[in-house]
Amino acid sequence: MSKKPETDGHGQAAAAAGMRRGLTSYGDQGFSLFLRKAFIKGAGYTDDALARPVIGIVNTGSAYNPCHGNMPQLIEAVKRGVMLAGGLPMDFPTISIHESFAAPTSMYLRNLMSMDTEEMIRAQPMDAVVLIGGCDKTVPAQLMGAASAGIPAVQLITGSMLTGSHRSERVGACTDCRRYWAKYRAEEIDDEEIADVNNQLVASVGTCSVMGTASTMACIAETLGMTVPGGASPPAVTADRIRVAEESGARAVALAGSGLTVDKILTEKAFDNALRMLLAIGGSTNAIVHLAAIAGRVGLEIDLAKLDRMGRETPVLLDLKPTGSHYMEDLHKAGGVAALLRELKPLLHLDAMTVNGVTLGEQLDAQGPGFAQDVVRSFANPVYPQGGLAVLRGNLAPGGAIIKQSAADPKLMEHEGRAVVFDNLQDLAERIDDEALDVRADDILVLKNIGPLGAPGMPEAGYIPIPRKLARQGVKDMVRISDGRMSGTAFGSIVLHVTPEAAIGGPLAWVYSGDRIRLSVSKREITLLVPEQELERRRQQQPVRKPVAGRGYRKLFLENVTQADKGVDFEFLRAEELQRKQSGS
Ligand code: FES
Repeated sequence: MSKKPETDGHGQAAAAAGMRRGLTSYGDQGFSLFLRKAFIKGAGYTDDALARPVIGIVNTGSAYNPCHGNMPQLIEAVKRGVMLAGGLPMDFPTISIHESFAAPTSMYLRNLMSMDTEEMIRAQPMDAVVLIGGCDKTVPAQLMGAASAGIPAVQLITGSMLTGSHRSERVGACTDCRRYWAKYRAEEIDDEEIADVNNQLVASVGTCSVMGTASTMACIAETLGMTVPGGASPPAVTADRIRVAEESGARAVALAGSGLTVDKILTEKAFDNALRMLLAIGGSTNAIVHLAAIAGRVGLEIDLAKLDRMGRETPVLLDLKPTGSHYMEDLHKAGGVAALLRELKPLLHLDAMTVNGVTLGEQLDAQGPGFAQDVVRSFANPVYPQGGLAVLRGNLAPGGAIIKQSAADPKLMEHEGRAVVFDNLQDLAERIDDEALDVRADDILVLKNIGPLGAPGMPEAGYIPIPRKLARQGVKDMVRISDGRMSGTAFGSIVLHVTPEAAIGGPLAWVYSGDRIRLSVSKREITLLVPEQELERRRQQQPVRKPVAGRGYRKLFLENVTQADKGVDFEFLRAEELQRKQSGS
């Protein structure tokens, strides 16, 4: 575990509270406080208000982020909660990241957002903080930042969007976005229909309505004990979501000065519980990377072998797209995360502490019994008998790879085929729909150089499209392999996070078209059927050059980013004991 910070990050005693915390360095502490109060009084505050516990509220509203489009209402409600509980709310901005408005990819910016979050929490006086996030990378970035900042924090989720309707069919982002786009590529629907459906996929502000990364991280944040009870599931535009916001503000006041800092919540037991939840909801593969990054901030590591063991004994219980058929608003009506926790109870560490000042078990007991519904299944009647995720190893992925078997074609889970290799995203874009491409339905599509350094930022390009000529013939799924990620809303027989990545000379770099590859999910193996001498010859013939950059954030990123198994965090942001372990000192 990480060491508790002795200072608030500016060499000042952490015991100082409220407006006295983290005084600006003018060399005279009395003057620093005098000046601070003079400035804030310019906004009309009284001495009484300034004497209250200060609760920071991280405002991630942005015109570029419709997943956070309810931010003004949430902030108002959090402030109400803070003031009703006797605190002083102070909202402040950090950067905000939306999946579709971040180039080259949102993951490239997650660590920047975590640094912004951590440093602004450290720099400004606050006794506790409410983190408001929702879109895929924002909750991980906030949990990473708050874990490192070392003060009490409550995670508030923005909430999911509502579902829409296209020609009487219920639709929601983004599983249905991909499904309809695949139909369009296969020429099953025309230009007019794809334009129509574009209007219906996102029916309101809020996060994607299926069990993609945002919903997965929301369920995980509640399971980790970082939200108020029931904090994961209320949709963005509901009264329940606003009430959760008010409760989050009040809870933050209760946490102020309590010493219940994030590292006391994010323990090994809490991460075990989170992995159980991830498996039971058939959650996004991205969550494994984010959990590794969050754990790394508090000196813990996610053991992929343990995840795989848990996967064999944890069924998928949640019937939500892309694994099942429902949407997030249905999970909310079915009782939310508590309904899942009740089913998972025998597998959970119920003594894990939460931000609510009680253990997860006590919190669950207080939430009362469940009721009949058809969204969360029982152990006796699961959606999928084993956990949705499997960890693969083999000569192609010595550091591991992931497959979301619950969202894949079962017939392809044991498969051997000929590799059709694309060297990078550009190569893929140029050739995937080429009528002359030598590809058959039983081939294995391989995409290199989309790992943490490769693209860079490990984009969600692992969902390699089915070549158009095969799509037209009705091919819906093929085995696809890459060192990148996949959106949690996607589906298919897709092997992801191949570690180490091609860009740093991982074995994936030496796969050539025509090689044979064997996937065996039952044996948890991914094997390149090429003799080691031949691979060595290829290594010598075409040595890999690691990507570099001359300046700026890209330079910082390329020089410091870790591989998928370490969360794609920057090495220097991980807990110091992990950095020492890594460097062998
Ligand atoms: Fe924001 Fe899906 S794009 S949650």
